[in-house]
Parts: sequence; structure tokens; C-alpha cells
Amino acid sequence: MNSGVKVFAPASVANVACGFDILGFAIDKPGDEIIARFNNSISGLQISKITGAKGKLPYAIEKNTAGVAAQSLLEHIGEAERGIEIEIHKKMPFGSGLGSSAASAAAAVMAINELLRRPLSKRELLPFAVIGEQCADGSYHADNVAPSLLGGIQLIRHNPSLDVHRLPVPKGLYASVVYPHVQILTKDARDVLSDVVTLEQCIQQTGNIAALVVALYNGDLDLLQRALEDVIVEPQRSKLIPHFAEVKDAALNQGALGCSISGAGPSIFALSQNSLVAENVGIAMQNIFQAAKIESQLFISPINQEGTILC
Ligand code: HSE
Repeated sequence: MNSGVKVFAPASVANVACGFDILGFAIDKPGDEIIARFNNSISGLQISKITGAKGKLPYAIEKNTAGVAAQSLLEHIGEAERGIEIEIHKKMPFGSGLGSSAASAAAAVMAINELLRRPLSKRELLPFAVIGEQCADGSYHADNVAPSLLGGIQLIRHNPSLDVHRLPVPKGLYASVVYPHVQILTKDARDVLSDVVTLEQCIQQTGNIAALVVALYNGDLDLLQRALEDVIVEPQRSKLIPHFAEVKDAALNQGALGCSISGAGPSIFALSQNSLVAENVGIAMQNIFQAAKIESQLFISPINQEGTILC
């Protein structure tokens, strides 16, 4: 046995209003930690410890997001027989819309890669982390995993081939993310979505996505404000989140550039031009849940640039 390596993978906000399954950004906190170490008395990968999951996460490698991600990487690099144990320390809730399973998958592949002295680049780890996350909700999309692993705001042009691109972040941009303590599983939030999108919706949504990219490149916050609009998914999913409309109104009234569902929800995010506005926006959002006697947590963060890191 040796002391091993410890890594941290941050939470992420997927979709970013108009970019269902194709946009996501990372925030500084919360996040998950994974420790990996060699263990010569075992053969293959084992999960030796899980904390912070209230007994809800399986130890079986093939059923655990981090386990699947780590195992697929180990098989790819021909190290599947190596005795390695991992500890998973969940520091963020599941079913929160904060990319919890993606953070575990990103942390797992990074920890294994570091333990084995970096056979792959960070970017090359992405497919293995996405395979891990797929085990949580059954679909292959990188809008949480890519920012959690690589940091920044990530655009995924095409999920199957992981054609992923980092977008610039305008100076000062801050996120307020409120997690109300109600659980929505990603699978359930995907099941409510209609397969049908009208041509009119398609035109509006693609216009918003294109404008969002231009706004980020030009640091144009007025355009960003107009682009942070989701005419397809938010109207269908917002009914799953209690008081969504009031929370969104509160954020916009406090000067947020935009506000929408974080990933599959129930967390709600807002983007603001600086940290002070983001704090006021976050408090206003949280006040709505407090008045409704729903417990919530607030995270205020710049866009995290590093993604998963050794710690
Ligand atoms: N794009 C995904 C969704 C993110 O909204 O369903 C959650 O995994």
C-alpha cells in the first residue's frame, strides 16, 4: 500500500439555459474528492470507502459512476489487473442538478491517471468520465463532465464524438446557484421532455445559442442577457421545481443577466456581472424558498477555470 493521490472535481451547471446537453460550466464549490492508491493485496479495482452518500451509493464497480469511469480507463490503458483501491468522498448531493455523478466520474479518472503517472492527457480522460456518468442516467452527454473535468464554460458540438470546445469567460462573470432540498432524478427530468420541437422553437433556441457564443467571445453582457433564454426545456421542466417562476423573477429583479434550471434541476442558477450582484441575486433567490419553508443551499462562485485538480 502507499498513500496514493487525492483529487477534487467541482460541481457544474449544465445546459446554461439555451444549450440543452451542449453547454456547461464549472463552479468552485461544492465538489467531490476521490483518493486512489495501489493495494498489492487485491487484484483489479476496488472501492474501499464511500463517505457522504448516506449509504445510497453501491460499492460494486459496475454500478458505481466513479467505478465504471475508473474501470473503463484502466481497461483502455491495459492496467485492469492492477490492485488499486479508491475512496469516494461525496461532498455534494445527488439529484441536485449540480452534476454530482459527473464530478465523481471526473475525479475517478483523474485520480487513476495521476496514480499511474499520467499515461493520458486530461482531455483524453473525457470519454472515460462520460462513460461513468452514463451509468447514472443512461444517456451519453458531456455537458456536466466536460466542465467538471476541464473547467471553464464548455460547448459540446456533438456528444457522441465528444467534439468539445472551451469558450471564453467574460471578466467578472459570477454564478449564483440555489439548491432547494427537493430531489429530482435526471432520468425523471429527461422523461418529461417531449421529443417534438417546433420550427419556431428551433429558430429561437439556435439563435440564442449562437448569440451566447458571440457574447462570450466579445464579452458582451447585454447580448448574453438576451441569449440566456430557454424556450424548449425550461417551460417543460420548471413545473417539477416548486416556486421556480418566483425564484427566477427574484433573480432578474436583483439584476441577474439570466436565470434558469441548473442541469436537470432542482437547482436554479443565475449569472451576474460581478460577485456583489451575484450575492444579492443568490440571497433573493434563496429568500423565496425560505418563505415557502423549503430548505436550500446557496453557492456563489466565479466560473471555475481549473476543473478537476490534484489536492
Ligand atoms: N443536460 C442534462 C439534462 C444535464 O438536462 O438532462 C443533466 O445531467
